[in-house]
Amino acid sequence: MRAFAPGRVNLVGEHTDYNDGLCLPCAVQAGVTVRISAGDDDVVRARALDLGEDDEFRVDAPPAADGWRAFVRGTVAELRRAGHRVRGGDLEISGDVPRGSGLSSSAALEVALALALIAHGDGPEPDRRDLARLCSRVENEWVGAETGLLDQLASLFGREGEAIRLDMRDLSVTPVALELGDWRLVTVDSGVEHTHAGSGYNDRRRECREACAALGVRSLRDARLDAAAALPAPLDRRVRHVVEENTRVDTAVDALGAGDLPALGRVLDASHASLRDLYEVSVPEVDALVERLRAGGAAGARIVGGGFGGSVLALFRPGAAPPPEAVEVRPGPAARLLPTEDAR
Ligand code: GLA
Repeated sequence: MRAFAPGRVNLVGEHTDYNDGLCLPCAVQAGVTVRISAGDDDVVRARALDLGEDDEFRVDAPPAADGWRAFVRGTVAELRRAGHRVRGGDLEISGDVPRGSGLSSSAALEVALALALIAHGDGPEPDRRDLARLCSRVENEWVGAETGLLDQLASLFGREGEAIRLDMRDLSVTPVALELGDWRLVTVDSGVEHTHAGSGYNDRRRECREACAALGVRSLRDARLDAAAALPAPLDRRVRHVVEENTRVDTAVDALGAGDLPALGRVLDASHASLRDLYEVSVPEVDALVERLRAGGAAGARIVGGGFGGSVLALFRPGAAPPPEAVEVRPGPAARLLPTEDAR
């Protein structure tokens, strides 16, 4: 049994997902493949091919662990907790999303594991929104990162050639055609690796909860800019980012609909400035990379993902050449089971 789950690039709508807000991701071609073959039904023997590391644990009682092992053990445990039949076996993991690049290798791993394990247990595929929530619990409870649902939904609902507008309030998914003509959308890795569990990510979540309490709203989707301005620093800045970032998602959707790519570039720039100055999740190396890309002809560039390192997303005008290390964003299809002999 083999399953593949893609990483994602978020065009705009960063740090809005856990605030019931809007996001505009696409699934990418790179991702994680999990292969499971029959073995001892009570024991999972796992191998991370890219790391050359192994793990082994009983299916009925996966103990806590660090690193990639937390994802495997957590996925097994959460699937069982949700009532899925999980059979042990020999499991191999390989991937081509660089870890810590902000392109969501973590969600790709959780989703590929979950799809492969469910199929190996002969279970039907569950509702994909439920599966996204289950995978997010793995990250929250086993890995220690209080991440939202953006990455899992992007991996599970991505569409070839399209971005998807996600409304986190009702988890609705709306396809948005990504027609770039001669423009080019690329990611460039800053080389500064991030982990959500160890970064300021969980601090930002706490600040958002504090801001909700102070504003008397259930989520920052309901926050108003004038009320936010009266909050003590830095909560005032955090709320302003979230409210304006939601607006930027719809500005980007309109820009894509109208084929107005310069406007999309301006959205990327505004998002970066906000993530840097208001939400304070950028780092100097990433800011320098954004500036370098702009100086090299990008019409807009911004940090992508949870922040504190990772990749930059940049939109290049026709005729302007991205640097050689840039990776073209080509929206790919959602997570899926692979035919066993597929050579991916
Ligand atoms: C990470 C998290 C997501 C989301 C983004 C920021 O990728 O996993 O849930 O919060 O950061 O937009």
